[in-house]
Amino acid sequence: MKHFISINQLTNEEVYHLLDKAETFRSIDYNLPNQIFAANLFFEPSTRTKMSFTVAEKKMGLEVLDFQVEASSLKKGESLYDTVKTFEAIGANVAVIRHESDDWFRELDQINIPIINAGAGTKEHPTQGMLDLLTIYQEFGKFENLNIVIVGDIKHSRVANSNAQILHRLGANVYLCAAPGFEDTTMNFPYITLDEAIRCCDVVMMLRVQHERHDHKMGTNNYLSQFGLTLEREQQMMNHAIILHPAPVNRGVEIDSALVECSRSRIFKQMSNGVYIRMAILEYVLQEWGILDEYLVKECY
Ligand code: CP
Repeated sequence: MKHFISINQLTNEEVYHLLDKAETFRSIDYNLPNQIFAANLFFEPSTRTKMSFTVAEKKMGLEVLDFQVEASSLKKGESLYDTVKTFEAIGANVAVIRHESDDWFRELDQINIPIINAGAGTKEHPTQGMLDLLTIYQEFGKFENLNIVIVGDIKHSRVANSNAQILHRLGANVYLCAAPGFEDTTMNFPYITLDEAIRCCDVVMMLRVQHERHDHKMGTNNYLSQFGLTLEREQQMMNHAIILHPAPVNRGVEIDSALVECSRSRIFKQMSNGVYIRMAILEYVLQEWGILDEYLVKECY
């Protein structure tokens, strides 16, 4: 693996390996045998992804190089490539990058440290996809034949794209559900209504209305009752069905605020899982590049 950009780079075996690895990381102390620097380069706002990468890196004993766009030489016109190349030059061993462009990684092909995609425009969010897989796997122990609906602002979501593809590949029945104008016609999955979805789906994966990516400001007064997960709709879900949401949540818009922490919500579990799956991904990538020695790492456990 050169850089970890897309969830589609992983084989099914690699996915299951990383899910198992994430569970291992929950219960071990990890101490690296050598100094490794991780640069977290977030060119778009983030709370969960950035902070869970930071916690994952610190738990592994990596030295974390933080980066604030506002205080960086980007403000003097430095390019993305030169910024990442600078981190490579000063000794970063891995770069975790989020950027608003759909394909920012294309200009970084010649960078000689591993890059992990922490969010690319509206196209990919592979580490979110992996933590969602971990959360579903913990719940059901499988993906085959699960009915999973992804609901909401599909068109502007990078999570929908990553998750739909990998869940389908792992054997789940993937459905989409969107308000008019929020459909993504490039995604080849069946659309169903929310009222159909809540009765037949094991996993209801809600998405945020992504105002920051809309061309026109959208009113949300009736969105919850028309297109969102209301208390009434939640009552019609199957007993064992769970609610996911990558967050941040627009409480009272795509989901009733009372459901965010209800008994079938796994939203905060997803965030906790994010730390361990990111540890597994970091270890995997660092080993692939020979930065971490597989045999020395075994002694860290
Ligand atoms: N889910 C997610 O990517 O959240 P952040 O934007 O806070 O990182």
